[in-house]
Amino acid sequence: MRILDVALAARSYPIYIDSGLLAQGKLWQPHLGTGGTCIVTNETVGPRYLPALRTALPAPPLAVVELPDGERHKTLANVERIFDALMTAGAGRDVTLLALGGGVVGDMAGFAAACYQRGVRFLQFPTTLLAQVDSSVGGKTGVNHPLGKNMIGAFHQPAAVIIDTDTLATLPARELRAGLAEVVKYGLIREPALFDWLEAHAGALLAGDAEALSHAIETSCRIKAAVVAADEREAGERAILNLGHTFGHAIEAATGYRAWLHGEAVATGMLMAADLSHRLGWLTAGHRHRLAQLLQALDLPLSPPVLTLSRWHELMGRDKKVLAGRLRLVLLRRWGHAITTADVEPAALEATLRAFGATAD
Ligand code: NAD
Ligand code: GLY
Repeated sequence: MRILDVALAARSYPIYIDSGLLAQGKLWQPHLGTGGTCIVTNETVGPRYLPALRTALPAPPLAVVELPDGERHKTLANVERIFDALMTAGAGRDVTLLALGGGVVGDMAGFAAACYQRGVRFLQFPTTLLAQVDSSVGGKTGVNHPLGKNMIGAFHQPAAVIIDTDTLATLPARELRAGLAEVVKYGLIREPALFDWLEAHAGALLAGDAEALSHAIETSCRIKAAVVAADEREAGERAILNLGHTFGHAIEAATGYRAWLHGEAVATGMLMAADLSHRLGWLTAGHRHRLAQLLQALDLPLSPPVLTLSRWHELMGRDKKVLAGRLRLVLLRRWGHAITTADVEPAALEATLRAFGATAD
């Protein structure tokens, strides 16, 4: 088993990574509170993995909430369903919420845990690759508002992250690829050696090779844990985890959060960020090409939908990193080193948008 630590003083917690961990209650039961549990899952994951988790609990859960599946259900109304279940079960401040699912379930269960009686304990049992390498670590929780994604939320760290790598066996291939995009991100922002490794192991990862996936998960969690430990509430450095996200969120919004998966939009967004970094003289054309080649090998999209320049600007202007009306972008100052900057020459940005198909208004 691989064990990592998210070092946040009193809020520190472990990340356990291994096969079969859902059923290994003895490992994670010490992280439960004293007041019983409430499992939050969804209609796709629940039927597959709820029995193993239930059996491993020291006592039957106080409640099980099975939410509808999908990003469009990441709403306050569904978080209220969790509150209803907790209240009906008479759960106290010592209850522990167990998030069993992908990033949507994890973000909602975490947000419910942040709010219920002003904050209760929760554990993450992530079941998608994206959740295992990114969303279950770091304590960002929340829901979407009809006018914007992840606009309502709270920082609330889990008490432990338990990654059962066996769950990836049932994950649709497209979801696996979307998770791999976030692994590529860690190589680009912090660790060129990870990028080299991904180039050598793309085939094994796509084939679901357990050893390769575990290595990718461990390396990603190690990098994310270090970034979060240095800047828990995104006062600065943590924003580099959003490489490709400003372009990516624009793609997701433009296509109604339906046609593109988040990781797919981030993949194309990272390529656009690399292109812009090249135009600013920070990356070579060879670097940009290597990224395109890797994304292609991972069967991730390289081209955004065709939008007008003003639509790009409108959508990118809604980004949470906009400060005092100024767009801030995460770019690559050099290969393996991301920075956040508000000083991007408009002509360079426009050249990148045009190179990726943006049309005049
Ligand atoms: P998701 O939770 O919608 O899961 C993707 C699909 O896979 C769903 O249909 C789900 O039911 C299904 N699924 C999950 N586990 C499965 C399994 N083991 N076998 C078969 N099917 C399974 O999407 P996601 O990609 O996991 O997460 C995306 C969400 O995460 C977004 O809402 C995004 O905003 C959020 N996110 C949060 C953070 C953070 O730091 N909190 C970071 C990145 C993304
Ligand atoms: N996924 C971005 C973050 O956790 O900060």
